[in-house]
Amino acid sequence: MLYQVDFKGEKMVPVQEGQSLLEASLAAGIPHYHACGGKGQCTTCRVLVLEGEKSLSELTVFEKTIKTVRNFPDGVRLACQSHVTGDGVKVHRLIKDETDRYIFINGNDENTTEVMGVRRKLALFFIDIRNFTPFIEAQLPFDVIHIMRRIFTLLRNAIEQYGGRIIDTAGDGLYAVFGLDCKIKQATESAVLAGQKIMEDIKIFNNTYLRPYFSHFFEVGIGVHVGSVIYGNVGIGLTNNLTVMGYPVNIAARLQAATKELNNSFVISERAFSLLRNPPFASGCAKLNLKGVSHPFEVMLIGKPYQSLVAPVRVEENSASHSS
Ligand code: FES
Repeated sequence: MLYQVDFKGEKMVPVQEGQSLLEASLAAGIPHYHACGGKGQCTTCRVLVLEGEKSLSELTVFEKTIKTVRNFPDGVRLACQSHVTGDGVKVHRLIKDETDRYIFINGNDENTTEVMGVRRKLALFFIDIRNFTPFIEAQLPFDVIHIMRRIFTLLRNAIEQYGGRIIDTAGDGLYAVFGLDCKIKQATESAVLAGQKIMEDIKIFNNTYLRPYFSHFFEVGIGVHVGSVIYGNVGIGLTNNLTVMGYPVNIAARLQAATKELNNSFVISERAFSLLRNPPFASGCAKLNLKGVSHPFEVMLIGKPYQSLVAPVRVEENSASHSS
């Protein structure tokens, strides 16, 4: 069967039986945004049904979830989830402006739009150099740059050795992911191994170079978590680099920040820890109250107490390593 759908203000679009509204509108040359690639995981393809609601398929599970979360009124449908079952349908695309057109439409071909990323489970790795401010205060600026380069080379080598990818650097820290080319269990193992190698390499660097030549030493704070995130070249920032976004990323960043308060250089979420085939010794565990997380968030401490901190330690002792 072939039906005609009126895309208000745009054109009449022929829709084949079994074709979604999105597929039909794209085939007809409408620059219909579909950031998640038509998987029901965003809202950019949404339309308001003006007429013929009964000639559309039932709401899918994705639509029901998104309508609840975003509180969309009745009549709003996701075009990628809606199929036409009869004539008389008239819809109005809701997201369309010139900026969207500029950002999302490839070149001159308006029949295609970019898919802005894919969802994948990744191991998320945040690291920060501790004891850095006193170093900057005590050293000459070019010496600081020289040492920064040495440290970041050390971090990059360890991360790349275990298959990780650096996503961003900021100040004296960076953010990397593991699992772009492997399953989540292996990714988590790799993230932990990279973190352990960094701690070992920093210790050697301190003893053989930093202490003798600059009378200083560095420590690190590492946070690791796993979760489902969106990654891709989403066009954020000046260069079109890989971006990874999602709530688990925020959690990993907060675990790294919590290393100081927990007085332990490597904090990993219990969820990530449970994925490890050969988990390292955990000297303790703790429950953190994270903003936006309703229940205490359990973490394992697999690093070392800081030498540069004299901090109160309030963690539960854990005499044996925890295995999954
Ligand atoms: S394209 Fe993302 S929900 Fe339809």
